Amino acid sequence: REPIRVALLGCGTVGTEVVRLLRDRPEEFAARVGAPVRVTGVAVRRPHKHPELPEELLTTDSASLVDGDVDLVVELIGGIEPARSLLLRALRAGKSVVTANKALLAEYGSELYAAADASGADIYFEASVAGAIPLLRPLRESLAGDRINRVMGIVNGTTNYILSAMDSTGASYSETLEEAGQLGYAEADPTADVDGFDAAAKAAILASLAFHTRVTATDVHREGISGTSAGDITAAQALDRRVKLLAICDRVTDEEGNESVSARVHPAMIPRDHPLAGVGGAFNAVFVEAESAGQLMFYGQGAGGAPTASAVLGDMVAVARNLVVSGKGPRESAHAQLPVRSMGQT
Ligand code: NDP
Ligand code: HSE
Repeated sequence: REPIRVALLGCGTVGTEVVRLLRDRPEEFAARVGAPVRVTGVAVRRPHKHPELPEELLTTDSASLVDGDVDLVVELIGGIEPARSLLLRALRAGKSVVTANKALLAEYGSELYAAADASGADIYFEASVAGAIPLLRPLRESLAGDRINRVMGIVNGTTNYILSAMDSTGASYSETLEEAGQLGYAEADPTADVDGFDAAAKAAILASLAFHTRVTATDVHREGISGTSAGDITAAQALDRRVKLLAICDRVTDEEGNESVSARVHPAMIPRDHPLAGVGGAFNAVFVEAESAGQLMFYGQGAGGAPTASAVLGDMVAVARNLVVSGKGPRESAHAQLPVRSMGQT
């Protein structure tokens, strides 16, 4: 079969690992997909910073790359623009998309899903929440027949890395934030992590999938950890607790039986014997409570180049397999709308 042609938009912490893994094991991917998977172009801002890539693959003209002869567009730029326009361009042309961009999905997910449905293209985004942990596909597919009542957990690796270090070694906030950046965990603008914007975007994606509705990042009550001091950590320790930044998404039923959705992100003091208290470093952990399945826990590396690339590659294989059989993955736009409960904004 003809190769699946991939346009890669962005080749930083995550993209570099995606390219490396594809290059290291091309036969394995071809065997799993049923066709070779070939990167035919890589768009970056500064080509001279990428001596590891063949010059002929590199471009700064993302739009032409998307418009060219490609089957799959993998977006690892981040932020809203130009990512939004590029992905809409791809989807409208019937080209499938894989993205790790939670900020974009939390704000413009509906627009992207509708474009995918209209053209019959796929959109997969497993890496956008909780890094390597298979979580969104279980919500979109495995649990699609169940009724989820709560999704709750640690979804930001950077803040968990900082809080864990402050708790275990007494390290300073600013020192560990810098380390998280060097390790490739933090966003390009780390205030997205420490002020809770990243976790709020992830909460919006989780709530939308779990409750089959549309929640945007601005619907999520948000409080980050920039106000969390060494004194707060010590106070928690004195109470045999640990401070963790939690994302909590609930199905809420009022006295009249009307249902709505609430989502919030804030630091919380957790008893040390709670499973979430033991989640250290940049790891994430998410509990899902569903009526028939009961309680499920998802745990693993929530940030970093290789773990995130694992999720991106899994999505690429899924899309490529669909292309080989002219099939399509799960739809996202045909949802009933559960109202979102206003939690007030910080
Ligand atoms: P980086 O900042 O490391 O890389 C961004 C890449 O995008 C760079 O290669 C950069 O080019 C390129 N780029 C930036 N602007 C443009 C533009 N206008 N046109 C073309 N290319 C551009 O980001 P990450 O790899 O860390 O993250 C990528 C995405 O993955 C983001 O959405 C992020 O939120 C998400 N993500 C990241 C995780 C992580 O642990 N890092 C985990 C989960 C998701 P150049 O190299 O030339 O500067
Ligand atoms: N900055 C994010 C985090 C990357 O620390 O969790 C993973 O989404």
